[in-house]
Amino acid sequence: MTKPLRILSGMQPTGELHLGNYLGALKQWAALLQGGQFEALFCIVDAHAITAPYEASELPSKVHDALVTYLAAGLDPERCSIFVQSHVPEHMELAWYLNAVTPLGDLQRMTQFKEKSEQHKHNLNAGILTYPILMAADILLYKANTVPVGDDQVQHLELTREICRRFNARFGEIFVEPQPKLSSTPRIMGLDGQAKMSKSKNNALGLLEEPKAIEKKIKKAFTDPLKLKLGDPGRPEICNIFTMHTALSSKAQVDEIAVNCRSGKLGCGECKQLLLNVLLPELEPIRHRAAELKANPKRVLKVLNDGAAAAHAIADPTMKQVRRAMGLGREVSGL
Ligand code: ADP
Ligand code: TRP
Repeated sequence: MTKPLRILSGMQPTGELHLGNYLGALKQWAALLQGGQFEALFCIVDAHAITAPYEASELPSKVHDALVTYLAAGLDPERCSIFVQSHVPEHMELAWYLNAVTPLGDLQRMTQFKEKSEQHKHNLNAGILTYPILMAADILLYKANTVPVGDDQVQHLELTREICRRFNARFGEIFVEPQPKLSSTPRIMGLDGQAKMSKSKNNALGLLEEPKAIEKKIKKAFTDPLKLKLGDPGRPEICNIFTMHTALSSKAQVDEIAVNCRSGKLGCGECKQLLLNVLLPELEPIRHRAAELKANPKRVLKVLNDGAAAAHAIADPTMKQVRRAMGLGREVSGL
């Protein structure tokens, strides 16, 4: 029997998920479930979130909010398992073992490490450096083949593959080399156009924001700085509003917008209105479903219980193999 293709991905529960998370990852996760050819696991990576400053008393409600957003955005718990990383302690155990096959220099070269160590200069914890090892453990534990992520995670995936090769070369072919899978919009810029849209950068459009707030933010959003008035030619390739059109508008409409932007016929105001015409109807059902789910916490918690059980059922045999191969654990001592 051929083994099923397995996908795994995750997000940190560090604040309201944003349009970049949705168009770069979450929307694709939901779409991948439709085909039915994957066995899918989606994780809320709370143990990653503790590497940034956080309030312990607030973390459970953030985990709950992330779950609600996963479900509202279309992850069907009948077709996938959704679980919380810290509910499956094998992640942390495997991460520690993988430390032993991870070159320190590779960790220090990670772009996210360089950025974060700059950001937290006076309060740098070792978790910021070893963060990608825990991510590698999340993926390798399930022998996932495919990891749908935004482009900022591709470097971490490359390191995961390196860790996988090193481990297998030393201890035997236990892990599967995973491939990243990018959506058609793997990088959505922030509304100020300065950096990637991110929860921590105050440049995000929250997925569950009210239509009025979304309208206001889109109207103020950064576009091509050389296009100052109607009639000026624009450059769709550098415009974030255009990128969002490519994810949400029809191919014919995207082509027409590109032509009319370049010729100067389409102004940024009108282009933004065209975007709102597709964005608001896309987000409205998500917001409604999220409100319904928030009112039904029992149903939501059942998803996490089932998800943790399904995850554990895969993680446990993998860890038995790993411990045996590494000469660790009670079994190898004959106990
Ligand atoms: P954030 O950077 O806001 O903290 P995460 O690091 O938790 O978000 O990212 C979760 C997922 O969403 C990852 O797959 C990541 O690549 C994707 N993602 C995050 N920001 C963006 C963005 N601006 N554009 C496209 N994908 C993104
Ligand atoms: N590191 C990812 C991020 O910052 C989140 C993540 C943790 C992840 N574990 C993962 C993504 C496993 C994919 C697979 O966005």
